[in-house]
Amino acid sequence: MLELGFKKYLCSVCAIPSCRSTDSEIDRSAASPKHPHFKIAAFQPARGICIFGVAADAAEEVPSSDMLISQGNNTPRKPRVLLAASGSVAAIKFGNLCHCFSDWAEVKAVATQASMHFIDKAALPKDVPLYTDEEEWLSWNKIGDNVLHIELRRWADVLVIAPLSANTLGKIAGGLCDNLLTCIVRAWDYSKPLFVAPAMNTFMWTNPFTERHLMLMDELGISLIPPVSKRLACGDYGNGAMAEPSLIYSTIRIFFESRGPRVAGSNNS
Ligand SMILES: Cc1cc2nc3c(=O)[nH]c(=O)nc-3n(C[C@H](O)[C@H](O)[C@H](O)COP(=O)(O)O)c2cc1C
Repeated sequence: MLELGFKKYLCSVCAIPSCRSTDSEIDRSAASPKHPHFKIAAFQPARGICIFGVAADAAEEVPSSDMLISQGNNTPRKPRVLLAASGSVAAIKFGNLCHCFSDWAEVKAVATQASMHFIDKAALPKDVPLYTDEEEWLSWNKIGDNVLHIELRRWADVLVIAPLSANTLGKIAGGLCDNLLTCIVRAWDYSKPLFVAPAMNTFMWTNPFTERHLMLMDELGISLIPPVSKRLACGDYGNGAMAEPSLIYSTIRIFFESRGPRVAGSNNS
């Protein structure tokens, strides 16, 4: 019998090659009454990691009601979603990802320098501001000026890094913070959700570092939206492709719907 803690995300059994979870090990009896596809997956640190995310068949089950968060003054507002891209070729889908969220949420975007090789700025929704390392430094001149990574960390209700490159994964796991994105993560308030959707060549994905880094991220409370197997941009076939933007969107939206409205502004330290 498996011991251990339980987490309220569905185990998608299983994106990481070294994870030996099987479907039968998932506690199906513990499905959430509100969202039956949200099941509670056993986490087995002793046996390697278990992946948390929403199953592909949940992608079409986006709740129909709009989600409004009430502020301290009781004025409802949309969720504030901070979308970030790092330097995986899957960043070509970043514009599409921003469009998926832009009706439902207030969206701000962050991009690493490497990801800008793949992002077409013109494809981003007009009302989504894009922040890079350049804005981080240009917006600060003297003591007393706002520091962009702290402002964005304070603003967001959720951070979604999609795609997450192998490099940024390693940096987050090691606590490094040498650009706008990793500074936001290093300053992150873990009472707020942080999701990542890795995307990399299958040789990078199956490298032993990946599992080590993902285990550290799991300890931090970061949720994984697992990559999928398909023909990758480099021509190789295998696991490592980023989950589709529609699945990433529905994962976040279902997460918000399942926990209900929250009062915003109470934890802005
Ligand atoms: C054409 C090209 C495609 C790349 N695709 C990926 C990828 O899919 N996933 C990945 O993790 N790294 C990929 N890389 C390597 C990253 O861009 C590189 O590690 C970079 O330093 C990542 O920086 P960042 O994590 O700060 O965004 C690619 C590099 C090139 C030149």
